[in-house]
Amino acid sequence: DKGTYPYYMLKEIDEQPNVMRKLSSKYLNSDGKPVVDNDLLDAIKQSDRLYIVAAGTSYHAGLVGKNLFEKLAQVPTEVHVASEFAYNMPLLADKPFFIFLSQSGETADSREVLVNINRLGYKSLTITNVENSTLSRESNYTLLLHAGPEISVASTKAYTAQITVEAILAKALGESDNVEAAQNFNLKQQLGLVATGMQAIVDEKETINELSKKYFVNANRSFYIGRGIDYFVSLESSLKLKEISYILAEGFASGELKHGTIALIEKGTPVIGIITQSNTAGLTRSNLEETMARGAKTITITTESLAKDNDDIVIPDVDELLTPLLSVIPAQLLAYYTSLNKGLDVDHPRNLAKSVTVQ
Ligand code: M6R
Repeated sequence: DKGTYPYYMLKEIDEQPNVMRKLSSKYLNSDGKPVVDNDLLDAIKQSDRLYIVAAGTSYHAGLVGKNLFEKLAQVPTEVHVASEFAYNMPLLADKPFFIFLSQSGETADSREVLVNINRLGYKSLTITNVENSTLSRESNYTLLLHAGPEISVASTKAYTAQITVEAILAKALGESDNVEAAQNFNLKQQLGLVATGMQAIVDEKETINELSKKYFVNANRSFYIGRGIDYFVSLESSLKLKEISYILAEGFASGELKHGTIALIEKGTPVIGIITQSNTAGLTRSNLEETMARGAKTITITTESLAKDNDDIVIPDVDELLTPLLSVIPAQLLAYYTSLNKGLDVDHPRNLAKSVTVQ
C-alpha cells in the first residue's frame, strides 16, 4: 500500500533511512560486531577471489561492493554483468567464490550463471530481498536485504540495502582476518550517520524538484560524471534517469569524457558531477569545467568537507567508502521528479518489468 504517496518510488526512496537502521540492528550487535553465519565466512575465506554477478542496479551495487571487499577484507574482487558472464566466462581464479546480488532473486541472467557454477562445483552466496527466491534456494548461502517489498520498477532502497549488506560482510570478513581497516571501520556509527544524512536529503527534496524543472524536463541528453566510487554511482544515477524519464543519460568516468564523448556536449546539456572522494575531487572539478567551457550546465553533488561555495547539492560527510549511500539519493529524486514533471507513469516505465525472468 502506498498510503498517501503518489507513487511507490517516492515511498521507497523515503524508506531508506529506516532500511539502514533495520540492517544495522539485524546484522550488527550492540558492540558493532557483524553477526554473520560462520560457515559463510569460512567458505569465503577458503577462496582466493570473489566474483560478484548481477544485472542493472544490482550490478552497480556490486561495483561499489568491490571497493568494500578489497579495502576492508583485502579479498580481490571482480564484478560482472550476469548476461555477459553466462556466455563468456573469464578464466577463473583457483578458488572462486560467487556472490549473486539480486533484489528479486529471480533474474534469469543471474540464474544462468548460478546453474553453470553449481555444475562446476563452486560455492555461492545470494544477497536478495526475497526469501526463498530462486537464486536464494539454488545457492549455498543467503543474506537478506530486509528492505521490505520494492514495488516500483526503478530500484532504489534495494540498491542502498545491497551496498550496506556488502559493507557488513566485508567488515565481518576483514575482522575475522584481523585486517586493520575492518577493525577500525565503525560501521554501526557510520550507518547511524547515513540514516540521518539520508533523512536530511529527502527532507530537502523540493530543491531537487526545482533542478529537475529547470534543467532536465526539456533536456534530451545528460551526463553524470565521477571517478572511482563516484563513477559507479554515476552509472546507477544515469540508469535511474533513463529508465523512468526517457532522457538519454550517460554515466561516465570523468577523465574519459575528453577522449571522445565530450563532443556531445552542447549549450545547456546538463552534466552532473559527483564529488565525494578527496583524492579525485579536484580532477572531477576540472573535468566539469571542461564541459562548462563547451556550454554544459553543470550541477554538483558533493560532500560537506569537499564542498565549495557554489556547489548545488551538498550531502553530509560519511566514510568515503560509504558515500554512495548518500550521493545516490539526490539522483533517485532527480529521476523521480523528472519523470513526474513529464507526466509519465513513474512506477511503470514503458517496456520494462520489475523482474526480468527471460534471458
Ligand atoms: O531483481 P534484480 O536485482 O536481479 O534485478 C536486476 C535489474 O533488472 C534491476 O536492477 C533493474 O536494472 C532495475 N529496473 C533498475 O532500476
